[in-house]
Amino acid sequence: MDPRTLKIKAAAEALTYVKDGMRLGIGTGSTAEEFVRLLAEKVAAGLDVIGVPTSERTAALCQELGVKLTTLEETPVLDLTIDGADEIGPELALIKGGGGALLREKIVAAASAQMVVIADESKNVDTLGRFPLPIEVNRFGLAATTIAIEKAASDLDLSGSITLRMTGGEAFVTDGGHLILDASFGRIPDTRALSSALHAIPGVVEHGLFLGLARVAILAGADGIRTRTQP
Ligand code: A5P
Repeated sequence: MDPRTLKIKAAAEALTYVKDGMRLGIGTGSTAEEFVRLLAEKVAAGLDVIGVPTSERTAALCQELGVKLTTLEETPVLDLTIDGADEIGPELALIKGGGGALLREKIVAAASAQMVVIADESKNVDTLGRFPLPIEVNRFGLAATTIAIEKAASDLDLSGSITLRMTGGEAFVTDGGHLILDASFGRIPDTRALSSALHAIPGVVEHGLFLGLARVAILAGADGIRTRTQP
């Protein structure tokens, strides 16, 4: 089955969690985009929902397809966030930020009563870290922040390249105006320790480890849909 079909299947299953009147967090990335397309069909058929987009990209797609939008200022408490992930590990810990939207994605997920992750089976892993960890950093002090991240990682016996994300020959800039460092640490056995260590670095705005946020993961594979849950 081709990857897009799997994404559509996971997105379609996620739609069963969406109820009339819900305030939604709407994720970013190719899988979340499939969800937006399916959601827009339901909206056109009369479903009444309102959503907070996790990126300018998602906002533009929602506007184009007629999905009503709000902000966390107007609607600070959400019922459900649906989003993709780069990796899904034990206890539904995630790596996110491959699309560069991790800060807004984390703020929106944390403001939601429930987060449902949609992905194809290839994103499910035993240990997080094969996918480089995106770390959103302030432009100011980039070199000093990079050294501090290396030191924090080394204290946890983690090492690997930390590279500035580029696009079209220039540094990638997030919706919040920050930069992204992609840290190829390999396996990350203690995600909580790394999360705390990164949060303690002043130049780090946020990182792509999503811990204790997702309650449901819908995984689409060649054999069908599998749902993982976390109490
Ligand atoms: C966006 O910043 C990311 O967190 C995405 O949710 C993640 O990269 C998954 O994207 P795909 O659905 O395109 O794989």
